[in-house]
This record gives sequence, structure tokens and C-alpha cells, in this order.
Amino acid sequence: MCGIIGYIGKKNSVPFLIEGLKKLEYRGYDSAGIAVAEKATVRRVRAVGKVAELEKAALLSDPKGNCGIGHTRWATHGKPSEENSHPHTDCTGEVVVVHNGIIENYLPLKEKLQALGHTFQSETDTEVIAHLIEENLKRVSADNEEQRLLRAVMKTSDELQGAFAYGVLWAKTPQQIIGVKNQSPLTVGLGEGENFLASDVPAFLKYTNKVLFLEDGQTVVLREKSAKVYGLDGQEIKVKPVKISWDQKTAEKGGYDHFMLKEIYDQPQALEDTLRTAKADFVRILGLKTEDLRRIKNVYLVACGTAYHAALIGKYYLENFAGVTASVDLASEFKYRTIPPAKDTLCIAVSQSGETADTLGAVKKAKELGFKRLAICNVLGSGLTRACGSVFYTHCGPEISVASTKAFTSQIISLYALAIFLGHASGNISQSQFGKLYKEMMALPKAVADTLKIEYDVRHLTRKIYKAERFIFLGRNVDYPIALEGALKLKEISYSSAEGFAAGEIKHGPISIIDKGTPVLVLMPKNHLFDKMLSACQECRARGAWVVAVTTPDGAEEAAAVTDKQIVVPKASEYLQPVLDVIALQFFAYWVAKRLGRDIDQPRNLAKSVTVE
Ligand code: M6R
Repeated sequence: MCGIIGYIGKKNSVPFLIEGLKKLEYRGYDSAGIAVAEKATVRRVRAVGKVAELEKAALLSDPKGNCGIGHTRWATHGKPSEENSHPHTDCTGEVVVVHNGIIENYLPLKEKLQALGHTFQSETDTEVIAHLIEENLKRVSADNEEQRLLRAVMKTSDELQGAFAYGVLWAKTPQQIIGVKNQSPLTVGLGEGENFLASDVPAFLKYTNKVLFLEDGQTVVLREKSAKVYGLDGQEIKVKPVKISWDQKTAEKGGYDHFMLKEIYDQPQALEDTLRTAKADFVRILGLKTEDLRRIKNVYLVACGTAYHAALIGKYYLENFAGVTASVDLASEFKYRTIPPAKDTLCIAVSQSGETADTLGAVKKAKELGFKRLAICNVLGSGLTRACGSVFYTHCGPEISVASTKAFTSQIISLYALAIFLGHASGNISQSQFGKLYKEMMALPKAVADTLKIEYDVRHLTRKIYKAERFIFLGRNVDYPIALEGALKLKEISYSSAEGFAAGEIKHGPISIIDKGTPVLVLMPKNHLFDKMLSACQECRARGAWVVAVTTPDGAEEAAAVTDKQIVVPKASEYLQPVLDVIALQFFAYWVAKRLGRDIDQPRNLAKSVTVE
């Protein structure tokens, strides 16, 4: 999982490459590199660490050229080191490649190439691409070098197995960059007298919002004034550019210290934008008529990480409002377990990026099983949106911080909207019930905006406990997935141990890890489960825990009697309350991590989009 960038135009490519890579760092950031066509050669600069390190190295060696490619890496094959950093070259140093994904058959290919006399410099799978192109350049013929490279690249792609997107620059054809897409993302930005190749749109959005989303099996040849796309058969294909409405500013921090904090504050807008299109979109995107909706009996939700927690809440919604049986699978598990084929089944894949390999794999399986497929996704044109028959977009804008926040609440509200529309269409809920639920849903952005006022209180209470070794989160019913999410968020960015439990489960084992001073955050809005949560607080307190209640105004007084601190969030209807509760935990994770001095937007060992299995 990595980020690719390419620039070709009239200007020096280096600043464009560095800037683009910075925008792609969310895809991985353990090393970076660029290669620039300079006269009849290609100059490479590579550095271990973030793109800032590469920038320093590039300033020193000062490569210049109006055509270049670059890469920011998240290691899969070979440790983060300069030798393993992209771009990689063939034996001549003239064919240069950047790659995102995994070449599954790289070992047999490497052995074959070594037997033919190729020498490898790195431990990566990527390097086989460069050597294979070198080999294929000898085997193909064409009228000119540009065409020869294109043919050699297409032949190379034929021999590769796995998920990949790669960019190629050849010293002999410095007026073109070739890009290939197969199951990993690759886009083209069409500028005025300049063109870009990138894993994702923010890399070039400052310069153009005209985008070509490549499909699997497509190869693009970029020149200063043209971008030609070819299919597997080598024939040119006309691809219509899409105009992206996100501007560059949207993708920037907007004055906050971290993208994560900005994105927490983006939530009212994100929900409003998502809900704006909900009604029209669900009728349109489900692409299903009322009689089809009535027929849906089973739903499988598949997702990973935070999106999985949203899916868990979705199960409560679908069963309660739509009256369908819903089960939730981690996408990585769904792929490998036996799923009985069933008629009238809908598979809902939830993903911010739409590029998560496990989720894409699960959807592929759902297709094989003959299930209808709906993506709830934030990224236009992503792999998932193309793999599903229908798409509902969460319109929360680019989420840059590795820790997902606004995408999560947008996913929850999308699933809520889906469940009530489905329930209404199938007759499971009456017109008046639907009207009430709809009204409550549309009021949520305002309640989220009110909830953001708790930041100061949350920040304050983290002062006492941010150094704790272990944190526990408890919830019940729709707040159980929120307890899981609170723990995930905290461990992801603070590196502290954190676990989320269903409150009723702690007596079955987990309570033994509670010790004197262990912070326990209890999700306890005043509802029919409130008394049970009061008991959970007492059980934890009796073992010495430092208990924090996340409660609603009508529960604050009672909660205060059995907890050490209270975070009071506004009250929403029972099923929408989790959206407000999670905000307390997002702030909590943020402030613990901030006090610990962690790299909040780019925590260690992680990447924003996990495009490998
Ligand atoms: O892009 P996706 O929503 O498919 O990503 C799934 C997970 O990798 C993601 O939610 C991850 O768990 C987040 N970094 C958590 O904050």
C-alpha cells in the first residue's frame, strides 16, 4: 500500500512530485523517492522516512526535468530502507518503476529473470516489473521507442499476478509516462499543457479537478498534451473525464493542529452533506423497485476496522427498522468462511476509501454467491464502487487522518437512512413511524454540532489519566460497537492498550484486568439500559477503576453517584445516540495521544488505505 505520483508538462516536475507525495502520505510513509528524466538519463533520489526527508535529499542533489515519477511507501516486501524505496530500476538504470500493490508471482518471475542474467538491488516485489519490462523491450518490436515501451509494458502486465498499479518512465522516451491499473487505484489528472498520474486525486487537485478514473486492465500513456488510455487488447479507449468538486482547501487542515481534530469538527457538515442526498439517492441507487425491496430477506455487512464498527451498528438498524436478518463479518473473515448461497440477499460493503483489499475480496465473493451488492463508500470511482451494483456515497469529503472519524459517523447515518428507507418501502415501518425517524435523522447534524462543545471537558479529564497503561470501554446495545470503536481509536493513535466490551460481558472474564486506577469509560445514555450500566460502573469501581460516564443530561446526576467523572453529551433518540457518544471517545483518543506527543495523523505502522490482504 503506497502512493504513486507522476508529472509531465513544461515545468520542472520535482516540486509537483514532492507536493503530490505529501498529499499521498496517508497511504504510507516509511520511505519515499522520485525519478526524473534528465537529458538522456533518469536521476533517482530516495530517502527513508517521510516525504520531508526526500525533500531535503532532493534539495541537495537538485534533479531537474519536466517528466518524473514518485512514490511514498508502506513496506510489504523488504524493510523500509533506501534500497527498497521506489522508484526501482532495471539493470540499465533506464527503466524506472513506481508501484502500489503486491505482485503475487514475483518470486518465480525473479528466479526466471535472474536465470536470464538480471541483477536485483532490492528485496521488493516491484523490482521484477522493471526487469521484466527490460526483458520485454528486447522481445517486442514497434515503429518507434514510445510504442515499443507501451508494448513491453502491456506484455509485462500480462505476466504479473496480483493487485497492482504502477508507473513507468524510460530514459529513451522522456516525453511520456506510462501507468497501469489492476485492482489498485490509479487516476489521471488532466491539466493545461501538463498531466498527472496519481493513486488518489488530492495529489494533483491543486492543479486540476479534471480526472480520469482508470479501470482494471487499463494502461494510460501520458504526454504533455495528451492522455491516451488502452484496454487489454491494446486498443485505445475513450474515457470520459470526471470533474471533482472537492477543492484543495477541503483537503487541508483548516487551521487545526491535526487533520484528525479538523475531521472531528467536520462532522456536522459531513452528516448534513451525506443526508442531503440520502432520500433521492436511496431510491435511485438501490436501483430496486418496491417489490424488490420487499423481497430482501438477508443482509450481510462486510467491512474492516472502524467501518466494521459502523456495520455492527447497521445490523441493529436493519433488524429493527427494516425487519431483515443482518449479519456482520470482518471482510477478511467473510472471504474465507462458508456462506450458504441464498436468494434475495444483499451484501453491504462499508468502506471509507473503497480500496481496502479485504473488503474488495469480500465483495468479490458476494458476487460469486449471486448476492446484490451495495457499497457505502466515501471515494468516488474507487474500486469498491465499481465492484458493487449500487453505491451510496458518504459525502464527508477527503478523510486524511489515518484515524477515521467523520467517515465513521457518516457511515452510521447512511446505514440508518438505508434501514429506515428499506423498512418504509417494505412496509415494516408505518408512514408515521418513518416520518418521525426521518425527522430525527435530519436533526442529527445540529445535535452533533452541539456535542462538539464537550471538547474542553474531555481534554481536561485526560490530564489525570493519559499515562494509564490500559483503558477499558463499556457499552451495550448500539453503544457496544461504540465501545469497540473508542478502544480502537485510542490504541491506534496513542499506542496505549485499550479494549472495548459489551458491559454485560465483563463479569465473564474481562473484569480481572481492572486494577486500582484503571480508567473505564462507560457509555450510559439515560435509556432502558441505564440501570444496567449503573451496575457495571459499580462493579468496576469496586475493583478500584477510575470510572468516566459518557451520559446524557437526564442521566448525569445518577451517573455522578457511581462514577468519578461525567462527560455529558446531548440526548438523541436511542438509535442515533451512538453518533453523539462516539464524539466523546474521538476527543478522548485525540487528547490522550496529543498529551503523549504521538504522531496523531500518521500513527506508526499504519496507513490510511490498506490495499493489501
Ligand atoms: O477505507 P476503509 O474504511 O475500508 O478502511 C477500513 C479500516 O482500515 C479503517 O477503518 C481503519 O480501521 C481506521 N484507520 C481506523 O481509524
